[in-house]
Amino acid sequence: MRLILLGPPGAGKGTQAEVLTKKLNVPQISTGDILRAAVKKGTPVGLQAKAFMDAGDLVPDDVIIGVLKERLTADDCKNGYIFDGVPRTIAQAEALDAQDVVIDMVLSIEVPDEVIVERLGGRRTCPNCGAIYHVITKKPKVDGVCDVCEAALIIRKDDERDTILNRLETYHKETEPLIDYYKKQGKLKDIGGEFNIESQTEEVFKALGI
Ligand code: AP5
Repeated sequence: MRLILLGPPGAGKGTQAEVLTKKLNVPQISTGDILRAAVKKGTPVGLQAKAFMDAGDLVPDDVIIGVLKERLTADDCKNGYIFDGVPRTIAQAEALDAQDVVIDMVLSIEVPDEVIVERLGGRRTCPNCGAIYHVITKKPKVDGVCDVCEAALIIRKDDERDTILNRLETYHKETEPLIDYYKKQGKLKDIGGEFNIESQTEEVFKALGI
């Protein structure tokens, strides 16, 4: 299964990818996670990406295409993968097509902007293992501590209100056109995104027939 989770920032792509990766036994490929790890390590990719990410702008396509090319050579990609937050532009989707990366299905999770602002304002993430929480809808067992690895949870730098609004604007301009792109390829399933986390997972499973 080669799956793309498409949707605005905060639609719940990462949350659903976490469940799917266990269920389908294929890796989650989140360019956001890869870039954040690169920034933390101070690699050349991280140095290139940091200012774009902090501002809520997209990292240039050539950087993303290079990152993906390398990631897809890993052994764990042999039986498929879940793209979380990539492709994000038509150029990235065309680059995948040009590399003969055959996508089986694209799940579009659409959520209104005002719900996104609320969700991202309450998000807490684990800087160590990447687990995702929310102060109201997905609380950790111990306040501020990751259930999985016990690291202290953080607020992502790009989850400040002004940056969220910029990320939404960027999504509508650069990423939303992918809905039509994949519709034309007959691969898109629109599943809506205003369910609670568990019901959203049921919708995702239903769409995938699993
Ligand atoms: P990235 O890390 O990909 O961020 P994003 O796409 O903006 O997505 P998010 O991680 O913010 O949201 P999500 O949909 O995964 O939601 P989540 O599950 O966490 O990218 C960050 C930056 O990196 C970009 O701005 C860009 O600069 C750069 N970048 C990355 N990829 C790129 C690319 N391909 N090209 C160019 N630049 C790139 O959920 C959000 C919150 O809501 C959580 O608190 C969660 O618990 C809660 N929640 C989830 N589902 C529900 C629900 N159903 N009901 C209630 N609450 C929910």
